[in-house]
Amino acid sequence: MLRSKNILIGITGGIAAYKIPLLVRLLVKAGAQVKVVLTPTAKDFVTPLTLSTLTGDEVYCTPFDPDTGSWKSHIELALWADLFVIAPATANTMAKMANGISDTLLVTTYLSARCPVMIAPAMDLDMYQHPTTKENLKRLTQRGHYIIQPGSGELASGLTGEGRMEEPEEIFKLISQYFSTGNRFHNKNVLITAGPTYEPIDPVRFIGNHSSGTMGFALAEAFARQGAQVYLISGPTQLTVSHPAIQLTRVTTAQEMAEAASPLFETSDIAVFSAAVADFTPTETAKQKKKKSTKSFSLELKPTIDILHTLGNKKRANQIVVGFALETGNALEHALQKKRTKNADIIVVNSLEDSGAGFGLTTNKVSIINTKEEIQHYPLKSKNEVAEDILDTIYTALINKS
Ligand code: CTP
Repeated sequence: MLRSKNILIGITGGIAAYKIPLLVRLLVKAGAQVKVVLTPTAKDFVTPLTLSTLTGDEVYCTPFDPDTGSWKSHIELALWADLFVIAPATANTMAKMANGISDTLLVTTYLSARCPVMIAPAMDLDMYQHPTTKENLKRLTQRGHYIIQPGSGELASGLTGEGRMEEPEEIFKLISQYFSTGNRFHNKNVLITAGPTYEPIDPVRFIGNHSSGTMGFALAEAFARQGAQVYLISGPTQLTVSHPAIQLTRVTTAQEMAEAASPLFETSDIAVFSAAVADFTPTETAKQKKKKSTKSFSLELKPTIDILHTLGNKKRANQIVVGFALETGNALEHALQKKRTKNADIIVVNSLEDSGAGFGLTTNKVSIINTKEEIQHYPLKSKNEVAEDILDTIYTALINKS
């Protein structure tokens, strides 16, 4: 499955670097061509000799080798790769990647890469929790990169918590899975709604919510990577898409989202409603900005169209419809009820009571109710890992329907 795949491993200067020779060994054994690019600090944690022995190739570290006078092209390395895996990724290198600070061969290579990028963060607990790191990680996620969620456990510092790089065997499994799921949604049209909707009160104010759209965009990238043609309809977000098979339509209100989704639903094989659609909209939108007053006032609201409910109940026999349920109490009970009334095949349940899950985060913790109403609970994962779990459930449903 990995035969003839070119995998570029980027190693940065963290203690977890000592585990990477095992990952390289597993990849080579599975038939992959592996090249390694190291940051200068990574050499303090793992020797180039070990890595070049395992890959059967030289190891890349600096753009210019003073001993041989040769130039190492980051462009050639980047274009060679089918996948670029940065493991361990330190806070420092992630900050440079997020901001384009290209003072190492690894980051210049990253900036030239056109292939998908996987990042396995590894650092100390407090560094991982720092807002700077979280912000950088969010930006890298927004670029469609695949984040391999670090686990919790004993760290090299002696502290216990989040920040421990995923084990090499697990990273190997994710890489293999990444290539094996290849084209399974080939020829499938997928409709996805994502993000919040904004319902205007007047020309400057609106009713909205905290949805960032990250989950829906991660689903769109995952479907496109696996061969689907994706129609993504998103409310206001900062996110962009990178895959050419994703056609993005930006909308603002629930009504606009419904109008954009409706014709696409008719030709879709799979429809995933991940948007956090506002349930109410002002009865009237003021033409002029409402002036401040010392008196309280009431705003009359009317219900919006329930897009999933409307389209789910028009579902064709061979179509798969997936809904989301965001709950704060009795999550599974409410979700099951939504599945039935909205005629969804699958419901992904988010509970806002789980830490690390919900709006504006790069991680999520979900339970999935499948077509048979069986419930599968998943641990906290990065949103692109959660997207893979959702796609697995959809794929099983698709096979059972066809
Ligand atoms: N949904 C929709 N259109 C709406 C409201 C919700 O398409 N106007 C979809 C969401 O995209 C999601 C599912 O319905 O897939 C459930 O959304 P959620 O907000 O959890 O539930 P609601 O139906 O809005 O009910 P409540 O807010 O009372 O939990």
